[in-house]
Order: sequence, then C-alpha cells, then structure tokens
Amino acid sequence: MIKKCLFPVAGYGTRFLPATKSMPKEMLPVVNKPLVQYGVEEAIEAGLTEIGLVTGRGKRAIADHFDVSYELEHQINGTSKEQFLSSIREVMSKATFSMTRQQEMRGLGDAILNGRRLIGDEPFGVVLSDDLCMSEEQGVLAQMVQLYKQFRCSIVAIQEVPEDQISKFGVIAGEKLKDGIFQVTDMIEKPPAEEAPSNLAIIGRYILTPDIFEIIENTEPGKNGEVQLTDALLTQAKSGCVLAYKFKGTRFDCGSVDGFVEATNHVYNNYYLKGKA
Ligand code: G1P
Repeated sequence: MIKKCLFPVAGYGTRFLPATKSMPKEMLPVVNKPLVQYGVEEAIEAGLTEIGLVTGRGKRAIADHFDVSYELEHQINGTSKEQFLSSIREVMSKATFSMTRQQEMRGLGDAILNGRRLIGDEPFGVVLSDDLCMSEEQGVLAQMVQLYKQFRCSIVAIQEVPEDQISKFGVIAGEKLKDGIFQVTDMIEKPPAEEAPSNLAIIGRYILTPDIFEIIENTEPGKNGEVQLTDALLTQAKSGCVLAYKFKGTRFDCGSVDGFVEATNHVYNNYYLKGKA
C-alpha cells in the first residue's frame, strides 16, 4: 500500500512578499494552522504517514513545526492553552518526517526527483500545499488512494477551470473511463487557452508510480526552462497509463492572495466557528 507522501516546499512564495521574505509561504496560517499542516493532515487521513519534505534555504520553520518545541511546551503544559497544540501533537504522533534539500529551483519535476531517496521504489503521493483542498467527506488524497487500489497507475487530480484561468495550470486531454475518471492521452504545462486540449486543469495532488523518477531524469526542461512533472507524466501516459480524477471537494489557490482570503473565510466559517478547527 501507499505509505509515503512528498511535499515540495522549496518555492519562494513571491506573490506574498513581503510576508514571505523570511518566512516560508507554507507556514502562512489559514486561520490557526499553517498551510502545510492541512496538506499533511490530508495525507495522514489517506494513510500516507511517512512524509518527505523537499525543502530549500530559508525553510527551517517547516521542519521545526513538525518537531517538539521544548520551551514552549514546558511553559504551557497543564494550562488551558495546551489545547491549542492538540492538532499538531496528533499529526506528530501519527506521521514521521524526513527532509531533503533542493539546491536549485529547477521545476516541480526536479523537486520530485530530489525526493527519490526518501521514496525508493514504491508508489507515493505528492501534495502541493499551495492548493488547499477541503472536502465534506473523504479528503482528496484518500479518494485518489482508493482509485489507485483499483487501477495501480499514476493519478493526477483535476478540476474544470474557466477559460481565463487555463494558462495557470497543467491541462489534460483524456478518454473518459467512468464518471470523473479519464485515461490521459495528452498533457500540456500552462498552455495558452487557445492551445489547451480541454478545460481540465491539474490540481496539486498526485499519486505517482516510482518509474516516474527515471522518466524525469530523461525529461528535458520545458515550460519556463524548468523540468516539468507534466511532461514526465505525458511520457508515462504514452508508454503505460496515467489517470486524471475529478475529485470531490473544493480547492483554494492559496498561492494567490485572493484564493488565500477565500480559503481563510471558508475555514473560519465552516470549521473554526463550528468548533471543528
Ligand atoms: C504546478 C504544476 C501544474 C499544476 C499546478 C497546480 O504548477 O506544474 O501542472 O496545474 O501546480 O497548482 P505551479 O502552480 O506550481 O507553477
């Protein structure tokens, strides 16, 4: 079964400057939890409890977040404030964390390749924590793990996006296998809307089979001169099978200020005020 999940967290977060000048964008809080914790909780819910962080310079706060903070814990032990640590303590008791550092930003494909040693030769999940996915029932990764059990191949999460948004995403074309499940026939990273093969955009949740590493090694830099996971997945789709899955739930683009504010309102109204956060 799938046990491991990679979190590429080396990116700069320029859209949130100056907030992200010395703080990792993944540590920005949506209400009372940093963005990356939501992603890790989603992975744990899906049974992926071995978390691999592909970090970079200036990202120590992420590793510290998933570690014990002795002074702080000593101070608030036994006080009413201790309850505020319960969600992170639960995460730390259920998951293990390993890190590796990406020395240069050479694209998502390259970040995943950096995580190879943490993964080895087994299927694994990938979470891009900028994409906050909330769902009423099962989390998005848990939905994808179920699908993996049935098909045993790489899976990308997709959603329909309006035409003026298409150029921000990897876009797929595919043959429909069932409601909401497509076998990928084409995949393009951030095409202009008029060249996009559909309006089905890739969202930052993946299940990947380990042959992807060798494919990435042989993938030339693509869009923006970066090694694109989308290009490697297209190679994989052509030689085997890649599925695209229209997930159940809502995705917020927390890499943008608008999406971040929307996510904050959503979590505040639907979770925090109801005592669920
Ligand atoms: C990455 C992927 C892209 C995908 C997007 C989802 O792009 O390269 O295919 O659609 O995540 O958020 P990024 O937004 O990191 O540039």
